[in-house]
Amino acid sequence: PLPNAIFGKGRLNSAGVDLSDPLVRDPLMKQLAKLEAKAWTAAPTGGGSGKEVSVLSPFDTNVEVGKAIWANEADVDRMVRTAHAAQVAWDQLGGLARADCLDRTADLFEQHREELFSLCIREAGKSTIDAVLEVREAVDFLRFYASEARRQFTSPLQLPGPTGEQNELRLHGRGVFAAISPWNFPLAIFTGLVSAPLAAGNAVIAKPAGQTPLVASLAIKLMHQAGIPKEVVQLAPGSGSVVGGTLTAHPLIAGVVFTGSTETARMINRTLADRDGPIIPFIAETGGQNAMIVDSSALPEQVTRDVISSAFQSAGQRCSALRVLFVQDDVADSMLEMIAGAMKALTVGDPADLRTDVGPVIDEGARAALQAHLDDLKAKGRLLAEIELPASTGNGHFIKPSMYEISSLAELDREHFGPVLHVVRWKSGKLDKVIEAINATGYGLTLGLQSRIDTTRQYVEANARVGNLYVNRNQIGAVVESQPFGGEGLSGTGPKAGGPHYVARFATERVTCIDT
Ligand code: NAD
Ligand code: ALA
Repeated sequence: PLPNAIFGKGRLNSAGVDLSDPLVRDPLMKQLAKLEAKAWTAAPTGGGSGKEVSVLSPFDTNVEVGKAIWANEADVDRMVRTAHAAQVAWDQLGGLARADCLDRTADLFEQHREELFSLCIREAGKSTIDAVLEVREAVDFLRFYASEARRQFTSPLQLPGPTGEQNELRLHGRGVFAAISPWNFPLAIFTGLVSAPLAAGNAVIAKPAGQTPLVASLAIKLMHQAGIPKEVVQLAPGSGSVVGGTLTAHPLIAGVVFTGSTETARMINRTLADRDGPIIPFIAETGGQNAMIVDSSALPEQVTRDVISSAFQSAGQRCSALRVLFVQDDVADSMLEMIAGAMKALTVGDPADLRTDVGPVIDEGARAALQAHLDDLKAKGRLLAEIELPASTGNGHFIKPSMYEISSLAELDREHFGPVLHVVRWKSGKLDKVIEAINATGYGLTLGLQSRIDTTRQYVEANARVGNLYVNRNQIGAVVESQPFGGEGLSGTGPKAGGPHYVARFATERVTCIDT
């Protein structure tokens, strides 16, 4: 088991679940098997009048995981207005009471973890280990943002009063935040985007991705059970255009926090520019074109292990995932042979099966786009390895996990969000050109470096425009508070999720000056 790390003033990150211990694993797998029969539901908080949709398993589209009622424009308007009316009382409750609500939510997430695991596996196609990590990260966000509410929202900051006056700075919630989240971390990112503005004293309308309303619905129910008023945090399941569009255009929205694609972030920016009402903050975490640089001092076994997990864990559907492996040409052949060999050991299939390494991609749209990219690579690139799909994947959204060599990073026009690894060789002495190519993409999320040479690391640190640099390890799985996460440029606005500047960005600052 991973030891609990001690953070801040004694806060513990969640210990997760040790799946290698049969006394823990076997009862858990039995509970998960029982939950496979459960039919889940989601609906807008306070009721919805939009259409009802079936939520199908990405592993087997003959299986309905549950049903969701979508919100329409009128539902969204009602939710924003009730949230607006409730927000001031939530803000005035103060940081301590809000933190207690978030801590109780974290406890409830842990008590209901089997249901949350089951939903992540069945609704989002997460592998069991990814589902465990997902709940763990959600719990960590809740407890960390609770600790931030206690740290920054409890008493005013005393400022200098050189002429004898008393100056105090207080943080307050801004109003109603729209929290718009993606399907790829349907619980962890969803919870992070909702709990940070709540911690800062805002009401929140939570819009989950259209593909994953069910786990989001359970999360919101647990928040209500933990004592957060139903008006203060509300679920608005539905489409990006109707729910997302109505929310972001609404004049009573006081801020938008978003994680998703760079294209959607641009659309939201346009909506915000055209809306009536105040000028409001937009916090966006978006896509990446993430590279790993391997030089001839790197340890081949370590590179192999880290490339496999960075590129193929979560079926490559992490914003942090490795997309382009830069290998120094004098070690490339042997290194790529090892990676191709390790790929052969990957098991593709049912995410509920503990032996599965790579599950499905989220939906037919994602599968078709990735397949078109693979077809294109077949013509343009050199196939280095691909994993055949077993018959059990026939009813799901699967593509063959693949590795292709291409001639340059510039050949990739955009992020390809799935288990496809691209390889580019680089010549010794040309590290500056590699960094130039990475910076030229305009994205700046994660970068891996495998090198034992200090001056190489220092050069990369100084010149690569990326938010998270990982040296001699994989480049996924940022830990809340230890590795605050987020990018720059086309990858997002910051501040970093799980970092010390995050919660305060959801607040407005007010200063009182008292002449004594
Ligand atoms: P997406 O952009 O398609 O959707 C994200 C959310 O935006 C969904 O809830 C969607 O319904 C909503 N939306 C769509 N159109 C909208 C509109 N016009 N107005 C308002 N909201 C709208 O992204 P996705 O496919 O759900 O997620 C995958 C993407 O997210 C990838 O690009 C990935 O890199 C990125 N991502 C980034 C991070 C990060 O921390 N940087 C983390 C996870 C995922
Ligand atoms: N925070 C997630 C990771 O680091 C996206 O993989």
